[in-house]
Amino acid sequence: MNRDWELFLLPYKQTVDELKVKLRGLREMYHLRKEHGPIEFVTGRVKPIKSIIMKSKTRDIPIDKLEKDMEDLAGVRIMCPFVEDIHEVVSLLKNRNDLTVIYEKDYVTNKKDSGYRSYHLICEYPVQLIDQVKIVLVEVQIRTLAMNFWASIEHSLNYKYQGEFPEEINARLQKAAESAFQLDEEMSTIREEIKEIQQDFRFRED
Ligand code: GTP
Ligand code: MG
Repeated sequence: MNRDWELFLLPYKQTVDELKVKLRGLREMYHLRKEHGPIEFVTGRVKPIKSIIMKSKTRDIPIDKLEKDMEDLAGVRIMCPFVEDIHEVVSLLKNRNDLTVIYEKDYVTNKKDSGYRSYHLICEYPVQLIDQVKIVLVEVQIRTLAMNFWASIEHSLNYKYQGEFPEEINARLQKAAESAFQLDEEMSTIREEIKEIQQDFRFRED
C-alpha cells in the first residue's frame, strides 16, 4: 500500500477496530445479564483504496475532500435478530457519549427500489492519535439477519452484472426481498413467545 494512503486511512482503521471491540463488548454484557441481546454479530471494514478512487470519480469527490464528502471510508455493520432490535440499537448508539450521530437514513421503513432494507447512521467518532484527537466520519449500518442475507446476495449479483440485472434476476431479487420482509415479520411474532418463556424462567428462578 502507498504510504500516504496508509497514513490517511490509519484513523479510519483505528475507528473500525475500536467500534468493533465496543459493540462486541455490548453483546457480551447482554449475554452475561442473561437478557435478550439486540446484537447478533458485528463486522467492519475500511473502504479499499480501489473502491475509494472509483467512488471519488463516479461521485465527483476530489481526493482532498474525501474526509468530509466520503462518509463510508469507515464502515461498521451491526446484525440484529429481530427488526425491533434495530430500533433498540439505534437508540443505544444515539445515547452513547463516545460518538455523535450526524444524520440517519431509515431504509427499514422506506426500502430502496432495489429492495434493500437497513438503518444507516452517519456518525462522527473522535479517534485518539499520537498527539491529537481526530474526528472521523463512520457509516453504521444496522439490519436484521434476513436483511443482511438479501443484501449480501444482491451485492454479489451486482458485482457480477455491474448493476444491469437481467429482468428475470431482478424479479427474483424483488421476490426474495419480499420473502425476507415476511420472515422478519414472522420472527417478530415468535419473539413475543420467546420473551414470555424467558419471563417464566426468571419467575421460577426467584
Ligand atoms: P453510496 O455511494 O453507495 O454510499 O450511496 P449513498 O451515499 O447514496 O448512500 P446509501 O445510503 O444509498 O448507500 C450506502 C451503503 O448502503 C452502500 O455503500 C451499501 O453498503 C448499502 N446499500 C445501499 N443500497 C444498497 C442496495 O441496493 N443493495 C445493497 N446490497 N446494498 C446497498
Ligand atoms: Mg454513502
